[in-house]
This record gives sequence, structure tokens and C-alpha cells, in this order.
Amino acid sequence: MSNRLKVTPNDLSAFWMPFTANRQFKQAPRMFVSAKDMHYTTSDGRKVLDGTAGLWCVNAGHCRPKITEAIQHQAAELDYAPAFQMGHPIVFELANRLVDIAPKGMDHVFFTNSGSESVDTALKMAIAYHRARGEGARTRLIGRERGYHGVNFGGISVGGIVTNRKMFGTLLGGVDHMPHTHLPEKNAFSKGVPEHGAELANELERIVALHDASTIAAVIVEPVAGSTGVILPPKGYLQKLREICTKHGILLIFDEVITGFGRLGAPFAADYFGVTPDIMTTAKGVSNGVIPMGAVFVKKEIHDAFMTGPEHMIEFFHGYTYSGNPIACAAALGTLDTYKEEGLLTRGEELAPYWEDALHSLKGEPHVIDIRNIGLIGAIELAPIAGQPTKRAFSAFVKAFERGALIRTTGDIIALSPPLIITKGQINELIDHVREVLRAID
Ligand SMILES: Cc1ncc(COP(=O)(O)O)c(C=O)c1O
Repeated sequence: MSNRLKVTPNDLSAFWMPFTANRQFKQAPRMFVSAKDMHYTTSDGRKVLDGTAGLWCVNAGHCRPKITEAIQHQAAELDYAPAFQMGHPIVFELANRLVDIAPKGMDHVFFTNSGSESVDTALKMAIAYHRARGEGARTRLIGRERGYHGVNFGGISVGGIVTNRKMFGTLLGGVDHMPHTHLPEKNAFSKGVPEHGAELANELERIVALHDASTIAAVIVEPVAGSTGVILPPKGYLQKLREICTKHGILLIFDEVITGFGRLGAPFAADYFGVTPDIMTTAKGVSNGVIPMGAVFVKKEIHDAFMTGPEHMIEFFHGYTYSGNPIACAAALGTLDTYKEEGLLTRGEELAPYWEDALHSLKGEPHVIDIRNIGLIGAIELAPIAGQPTKRAFSAFVKAFERGALIRTTGDIIALSPPLIITKGQINELIDHVREVLRAID
């Protein structure tokens, strides 16, 4: 007899939940059963305001008609086509549409299914690019402390969040890290990018001097670090990184998995900061988080360096069964249509000052030791409970959910990143929820 008959539909034990306190959750589950625009509905029928765009991905809001219809239509027309040695029209259409909105010079797109896969794809591309040009000694990868680049081995090797690394052995060899740019003693309560810390980019020169540029393939950074609890680049920092990379022939990879697709009020962080990387990793907002998809953008020179050798030969031995899956492509096209019709890729620019004021109105509330903001991203850092790091922020998260707002916490930092359709009234509502939660927790 099938074992399934013994499992009740609401038995929570079989599913090992990702990045979740499983035992706590299963004692007091938090379940969403539907969503529309800015709100989720819970299994007990309550509306919850989405203050985090799901996991930084539902930029156009939930269950948007253009996206839903595109998926329904595609599922009935062409559900799957092999990704290798075969094509289908909308994957090419999507690549062209993406290149059209990408920073100038990012002319080619490689599809993946997640941010983690985009990152590992970009790292492999960087190493293989140098080899294709005859500089095969350039294999070293440089990341940054507190960086988050997903959970695959490449991503955790260049990443710098200790909890994501320490359980998993020696990781990739030949990796070094620059220091993070979080300087609370100088920059606390900065509005937008902080004044102090651009000189931290010079640490890259120190690392180059240690290893020699001829051994270094790429530097990877999040233009704005999100998952570590929102760390902003000091004024001029990214420009300096760009200059140092160019000077030494090192590729600069921007991990735009959360900053891509309008989060800062410009289509990409590269546009916002006026700094163009050589490779740009994206996911999440590319398909509004609805169907898994990632996209790696590369400059023409990088793509073209692979296009040599006999024409019947595969040029890059890399790809995924679901790279450019037709239904994911349809979701992404529906997403891009929605962004365009509603001006969402730049809407954050107009809302950012209001968002900034609302966030900084929390200064002086209990436990708050720093507030940071850029575009439609906000972070409220709380003083940890002595000897119990993360506990205070986790209580805030649970309380906010009970009150009717979805917030996200990492360490003792509350991170906010609402869908880009949020209204000013909903910004007030979200911040009021956070205010009340801060007053209620220990
Ligand atoms: C900057 C960055 N890179 C990579 C990832 C990993 O994306 P995924 O969870 O889709 O693998 C994330 C996810 O939050 C991210 O923020």
C-alpha cells in the first residue's frame, strides 16, 4: 500500500524547509494561501501587507494578469523544448527584450533558473573567458566579506556570510575577500549612500599586489548587499572598484539578483551608480519570482571570445535543462510588459524620498541603532539581546506577521523591499506596523 495514504495532507514533517527554523515553524506555522497585488492572505483568512516582495522578487506585485495569462497560454502551447542544440522563438525574443533594457554594452544573455545558478555561471564564464584568450592562469576569484551570492559552491566560496560557509568544508580554492563596507561608527543613520568608506576599494589593490593580477579572473560584488542586512556602497566606492579592475584586466561582476529590475529606481544598479560591470547576474525580478528564472548578462567581448574554433563545436560547456524554459520565458515577457506599462523600473526613483523619510521616522524607537535606505530598500538595525543574537529581530518578524505585515530579518536587521507598486499610504502602513512591533518586543 502506498505510504502516501498514511500521511495526512497537513502533516508538516516531510518537508525540510529551506533557510527556516523548521522546529519553530512547525509548532506555529505561518501559511499563505493566496496573494493579490500588495497583499497575501493567510490560511486563517487574514490579509498581510507584503513588505519584502516575497524574497526581493515580486517586484510587480502578486498575481498580475499579464503574467498569469502569459503562463497559462504558454503552458498550453509549448510546455518544454530541449535547451541544448534546439531553440524556441520566445527565448530569443526575451533575450532581445532584456538586452534592450540592460546597461549599454551588455549585449548577450545566458539563462539559468536562479540567482545561485547565475552566480556560478558568471564565475565559470569569467575563468573560461581568460583561458579562451590565452590567459589561463587567471583563475582566482575575489569576493567580499558579508557578500551573499546564493548557496551553490561557487557562490558560497566568494560569499562572505559565515553561517552559509562554515558547515560546508573547504569550498573553492583560490578565493580571496575584500572587506565589507559597513561602518556604523561613521555612517549610522545615513540617508542613501554613505559618505565614508570609498577608500575600502583600495583593499583590492592590496589583494592584487599579494596574488598578482595575472592570477585573478574576476571580482564579484553586490552593488548593494541585501541578504546580509543591507549594506550600501560608500560614495565613489563602486567607481573605484571599476577603475582598479580595468587597470588590471580583471573582470568586474555585479551580482544584481536583488538590485536588478527597478529595485533602486533605475532598471539596474549599474544604471543607478553609472558603473558598468563586465558581467551582471540577475534572477528574481526577471520573472517577478513567479516561475524560477535567472539571466546572466555579458559584454560582447566576453561572448565573442568564446565564438572561435570549429563551428559544429559547443563553445561553452555549461547550461541547465531548464535554461530558457518556455513557460519561464513567457512569465518573464509578461513581467517585462507589466514593468513597461506601469513604469515600474523607474517608479522607485519618484517614491524613494518618501520611503526614506518614512523609514527614518523610526529613529529613536526602541532598540534601533541604525537605519539605512536606497531606492525602495530599507534596513532597520536593532541592538541584539545580549548573548542571544538574532532573537530580537526574529521576534519582530513573528509579531509583524501576526499584526499583518511581512518583513524580513537577517541577524538583528529588519530588511524591507516592498513590491514596486506600493502606494504612499501602504508605505505609511508598513512603517507603522514596524513602529508598533518595535514598541511591543523586548
Ligand atoms: C545578491 C544575490 N545573489 C544570489 C542570490 C541567490 O538567488 P537564489 O536564491 O535565486 O539562488 C540572492 C538571493 O537572495 C542574492 O540576493
